Amino acid sequence: MPLVSSKEILQKAMSEGYAIGAFNANSGEMVQAVVETAQEEQAPVILQISQGAIKYAGLEFATAMVKTVAELATVPVVLHLDHGTDFDQNVKCLRVGFTSLMYDGSATPLEDNIRVTSKITEIAHAVDIPVESELGKIPKIEDYQSMLPAGYDYSSKLPADVQENVENLMADPEQAERFVEKTQCDSLAVAVGSVHGMKRAVQPLNIERLDSIRRRCGIPMVLHGASGVICTRDQAEEFGIKLNAHEGTIEDAVKHGISKINVATELSMEFIRGIKNALDEKPGEKDMRKILLPGKQLVKEKVRYYMHLFGCVGKGAAAGVSSGITSSEIKYHE
Ligand code: G3H
Ligand code: 13P
Ligand code: ZN
Repeated sequence: MPLVSSKEILQKAMSEGYAIGAFNANSGEMVQAVVETAQEEQAPVILQISQGAIKYAGLEFATAMVKTVAELATVPVVLHLDHGTDFDQNVKCLRVGFTSLMYDGSATPLEDNIRVTSKITEIAHAVDIPVESELGKIPKIEDYQSMLPAGYDYSSKLPADVQENVENLMADPEQAERFVEKTQCDSLAVAVGSVHGMKRAVQPLNIERLDSIRRRCGIPMVLHGASGVICTRDQAEEFGIKLNAHEGTIEDAVKHGISKINVATELSMEFIRGIKNALDEKPGEKDMRKILLPGKQLVKEKVRYYMHLFGCVGKGAAAGVSSGITSSEIKYHE
């Protein structure tokens, strides 16, 4: 079916207590992997295009890929701009057909963030497109390069001084309430302990902070940097990570009202792992498809895992919508 707006599916997720996966895609294989899995699991899904993806694939090509694959599916698919940098880029995305926007003004002073976000919501709402904004700052692991011990292998929580900085960047509940009221944004990316770009899930979230922001704002909350966040309490135990009373995992965050969860790094790493396995097994292979396909398969399994964790499986079952295409017809293997 045609792309859908994120507005209704996030509102529904918020009221029914599950989260929708927002997966970053950089290539055709990634787009297919995500939508095929959504179709198989009957889950609504958000495909998001990052700044890196726009540079790599180009805005028009990325848009066309997502639109084409979404048309073949019967589950709701959203095309979302990830960490939009400015007003102009958001308007360009509106023009090419994105059905969900984001402006990330977290690096700018609060009043500038409010001003630009408000301009974007005004123009996007005129054509019924919702806008996500960011409050507090969700850092990147690369921001801490000089503070990480040499050879840091992501096998334990971040060092105390790094963690202290992550906590200092967290969103303030009172500020969040004022921000939402002033900007009229439709969803809020909240800094509650996650860090972008981590290679292993060792970060806990501050669930207490999440609760107090969610209660004041009343709009869907968005978790970024999910690749680095501990998925379940069992996983924390397995990794030997002790959670403090106010801390929790992705599973806890879903129970505490997170409605959209962004995953990029973990999918990229799975794609690379599949390709590496294939190259190790068939070093002389001349058919690139036989090398890329194992990457795509591992991405699909990871997307499936997350969809089950987020509780969105079965939530995209078509309400009387039919594209006339069966689930197996959107697969292009071999
Ligand atoms: O938040 C953004 C994701 O981590 C991916 O970013 O595709 O620009 O590297 P990138
Ligand atoms: P990760 O790459 O850490 O999963 O973060 C994804 C993200 O937040 C995209 O906006
Ligand atoms: Zn992000």
